[in-house]
Amino acid sequence: MATFLKSTEIPIDNARTLPREYYNSPDILADEMERIFARRWLCVGRADRIPSPGDYFLQQVGKESIIVFRDRSGGFRAYYNVCRHRGTRLCEEHTGRFSETIQCPYHAWTYALDGRLIGAPSTGDLEGFNKSDYPLFPVGVEIWEGFLFINLSEKPERFDQASQALIGRFSRFNLPNLAVARTIEYDVRANWKLLFQNYSECYHCGPVHPALTKLTPPTSGENDLTEGAFTGGFMVINRGHESLTMSGQACGVVVGDLPEEDMNRVYYYAIFPNLLLSLHPDYVMFHTLWPKGTDRTQIFCSWLFHPATLSDSTFNPDDGVGFWDMTNRQDWHICEQSQLGVESRAYVPGPYSTRESLSVQFDREVLRSLGHPVR
Ligand code: FES
Ligand SMILES: [Fe+2]
Repeated sequence: MATFLKSTEIPIDNARTLPREYYNSPDILADEMERIFARRWLCVGRADRIPSPGDYFLQQVGKESIIVFRDRSGGFRAYYNVCRHRGTRLCEEHTGRFSETIQCPYHAWTYALDGRLIGAPSTGDLEGFNKSDYPLFPVGVEIWEGFLFINLSEKPERFDQASQALIGRFSRFNLPNLAVARTIEYDVRANWKLLFQNYSECYHCGPVHPALTKLTPPTSGENDLTEGAFTGGFMVINRGHESLTMSGQACGVVVGDLPEEDMNRVYYYAIFPNLLLSLHPDYVMFHTLWPKGTDRTQIFCSWLFHPATLSDSTFNPDDGVGFWDMTNRQDWHICEQSQLGVESRAYVPGPYSTRESLSVQFDREVLRSLGHPVR
């Protein structure tokens, strides 16, 4: 049985917020891209984005472009979008379908879907040239609970080892069988860490989210993942309400096989470094975060429902989507204000409250990853 702790019971040892350079230094961002985003498993959305063999999409990670696609046997593969001849991007279109091969638009080098170079015009007279020496550069891919993850590292840590705390934890939510009803893209003028820190606490909920606060008391709830790369727990939905929706009523059938106690809870997990997972009784919302600059983050937010909800017109998924779109925008706005403030010459790190203990854990994970002293 999981042990649950109130946020205020997790020690923070007088932690302070991060210094200014963590929010405005291009060098630190470059380090984060190298030591975090090029090494950890990153969520790139749901596997059903590419339902048929040959379907692909491109995922930008910093300056890298990655081709993620479904192969002939229904498995998933990913490659750097880089030709082995002169390095040209192989694909320009963000989504599409390969027929049998991937062909470079520059000099028509051609690759099989398993990455082998199978065609390289006029190379027959090159001494010592062997097509087998020039496969596409592979990128790690894993599927977990219907989510696809990629890993840019040359030797990725095994997903099941890196993600031990997650494996099996959400089985009751039936995640592999849920379907995306909506996805909204947000362009937020704030550092990715401010967004992660913000998600990790509800100290701000009273001032920032009046509607949310009516449905779920900001000091309610407890955490069952309290340190390391994955943190989170639940908050309680007030009596008389069923979910976090504009109406306060459920906007779909129950997503999975949930015990009674989960029917008035929302579970929130911050999955380092780029996935935020919010599980409601009747829908699941997830965000993926992509740093675009020291003060800019691209966010995709999607809402998953049980297929029975989507085929039943008596339900209105927009009741949940609209609630969180409003709440998201409140969060993005306050994080943008925070970005402007921490860039000030006057800003110095301030003391975290005990209600922000999971934000402290996040900061520590960043500092550990960068090889910086953990304060
Ligand atoms: S750069 Fe791709 S074939 Fe020449
Ligand atoms: Fe918030």
